[in-house]
Amino acid sequence: MNTLDVKTLNVGIIGYGYWGPNLTRNFFEIPMSELVAISDLKGDRLQRARTLYPDVVTTPDYTELFDMDLDAVVISTPPATHYPLAKECLEHGLHVLVEKPLTLNSEHAEELINLAASKGLTLMVGHTFEYNSAVMALKNYINNGELGDIYYLDAARLNLGLFQKDSNVLWDLAPHDISILLYLLGEKPISVSAQGMQSIFEGIYDVAYMNLVFPNRVSAYIHVSWLDPCKVRRVTVVGSKKMIVYNDMEAEQKLKIYDKGVDMPTYTNGGFSEFLCSYRSGDILIPKIQLVEPLRQECQHFLDSIVNHEPPCSDGDDGLSVIKILEAAQRSMANGSTHEVIQW
Ligand SMILES: NC(=O)c1ccc[n+]([C@@H]2O[C@H](COP(=O)([O-])OP(=O)(O)OC[C@H]3O[C@@H](n4cnc5c(N)ncnc54)[C@H](O)[C@@H]3O)[C@@H](O)[C@H]2O)c1
Repeated sequence: MNTLDVKTLNVGIIGYGYWGPNLTRNFFEIPMSELVAISDLKGDRLQRARTLYPDVVTTPDYTELFDMDLDAVVISTPPATHYPLAKECLEHGLHVLVEKPLTLNSEHAEELINLAASKGLTLMVGHTFEYNSAVMALKNYINNGELGDIYYLDAARLNLGLFQKDSNVLWDLAPHDISILLYLLGEKPISVSAQGMQSIFEGIYDVAYMNLVFPNRVSAYIHVSWLDPCKVRRVTVVGSKKMIVYNDMEAEQKLKIYDKGVDMPTYTNGGFSEFLCSYRSGDILIPKIQLVEPLRQECQHFLDSIVNHEPPCSDGDDGLSVIKILEAAQRSMANGSTHEVIQW
């Protein structure tokens, strides 16, 4: 084990499929980490890793990482494997960054949280958007009252595919939007209802709509889809003073602040004039946001949290909150869109 005052942490990667290479590149480039090993079950993925990182150990057997003097591991494997892999890594005294969703049920998430706490280890989940500068700026606009009272939020994450046989669109895409909403509002929803469609494969939801009710009656809506002609990554926040659209598909102009709103006339004792609201349509502001790769900020934050013995922003509890909401949404979809109260 490295002594932490050296402030260079030995890191291993488990899972080098689609997303793992992005995490790997960051831990390779960040000065505070030493990329020691990469494990993947597939030979072609290991071959690819060896081409890019000839000095890094590669192995199909992740248990070999336990004998490599590592400080931390990064798990980027399919969601069903997160719990057993994270558990084993924590048991071997390693700090763990695990991709979203943390686990596939809240019992497993709670077990990992308790295990990490009992061993004084960092457990972090890869809620990447909490490390996105545009989302951080959006949170600031909400917190400093720029938008006024928040009426509602609307999030859409749509694309054609990628279908997955052992997951559904809710568990695949909604963790991002749920984590964004929890982060933006700084509180947890009271209840959730959801509706889903199984258009292509029976038993696999490929389109889902969720409604989350937060304290103060703020509503949030999430639409996720594997069956849409357009790629959409958008969050809209509508307030009494202004409205903001965060469009992650934009290269530079990710946030647009609309000075738009509706002002009610004073009460006139009935009659048509009550419906003559005035529509305000002012300037559109595009704030300059210093864009840093969100994943770079996430990886750096993981290392900083370990060294500083501080819980990361997207810690195990954050991961558990997302899972409890997903579980409630799944129950609601199965029960005809009932409003499921979430027990926190
Ligand atoms: N944060 C994000 O924006 C983001 C984006 C995409 C995917 N993800 C998440 O990343 C994770 C991986 O997704 P993906 O799209 O890369 O999946 P993938 O199927 O492309 O890759 C997973 C890899 O893990 C390997 N693997 C499985 N079990 C293993 C084991 N026991 N030991 C070693 N390797 C093993 C597989 O061989 C595969 O190469 C998922 O949890 C997904 O939700 C996050």
